[in-house]
Amino acid sequence: MKTLVALVSGRGSNLQAILDASLPLRVSAVLSNDSQAQALARARAAGIPTAVIDHRNFSERMAFEHRLAEAIDCFAPDFIALAGFMRVLGDAFVQRYAGRMVNIHPSLLPAFPGLHTHRRALEAGVRIHGCTVHFVTPALDMGPIIVQSAVPVLPGDDEASLGARVLVEEHRIYPQALAWLATGRVALHADRVTYPHDRAEPALIAPALDAATPMARAQSGR
Ligand code: GAR
Repeated sequence: MKTLVALVSGRGSNLQAILDASLPLRVSAVLSNDSQAQALARARAAGIPTAVIDHRNFSERMAFEHRLAEAIDCFAPDFIALAGFMRVLGDAFVQRYAGRMVNIHPSLLPAFPGLHTHRRALEAGVRIHGCTVHFVTPALDMGPIIVQSAVPVLPGDDEASLGARVLVEEHRIYPQALAWLATGRVALHADRVTYPHDRAEPALIAPALDAATPMARAQSGR
């Protein structure tokens, strides 16, 4: 079975979704730059080895990334998943795992790379927001896109309500993307997502409009 090392920095809800899904891969280790990350407790509860490489113990990013790569390579994983890993990674690190490292980002890239995506989506007045799983390439949050899911931005939304709606979709598409990766249904070649089985996987997963949304109520005449 293919193996995965997950890199985490915080809450770990995406890690939990990965652990809870029946995926054709095994999570062989969870590594964090923060010893306080709740994600580490989730990994331990699942019996998965963990390690902390605290970036604050390194005066240079290169040294941190070198140590991180050593820790990853101990497990010789097929894939690396950034699951709420909040450090920017340098070119050498990214190249080392080219085509094998993926990330989940809480926006419909290329819109809103970086931080505070839900706040910025609200400020921009977009009607549709969402999340993206993509291969990691040197340009931050700009790697080739594997799958996205869209959600409506509803009147009255704030950062928390919009973020919660997006997070539900994150938990759907990240396990899905990893399953495709593990079974060779998506791959990266020359900076493009390819479909070795000659069948493109669906690139957009949009949830059915919930009966509770104003739009669904309007459509049903209630
Ligand atoms: C998730 O929303 C993830 O998309 C985001 O951090 C959160 C981590 O939550 N990642 C990024 O913003 C990376 N650019 P989690 O720890 O509960 O999975």
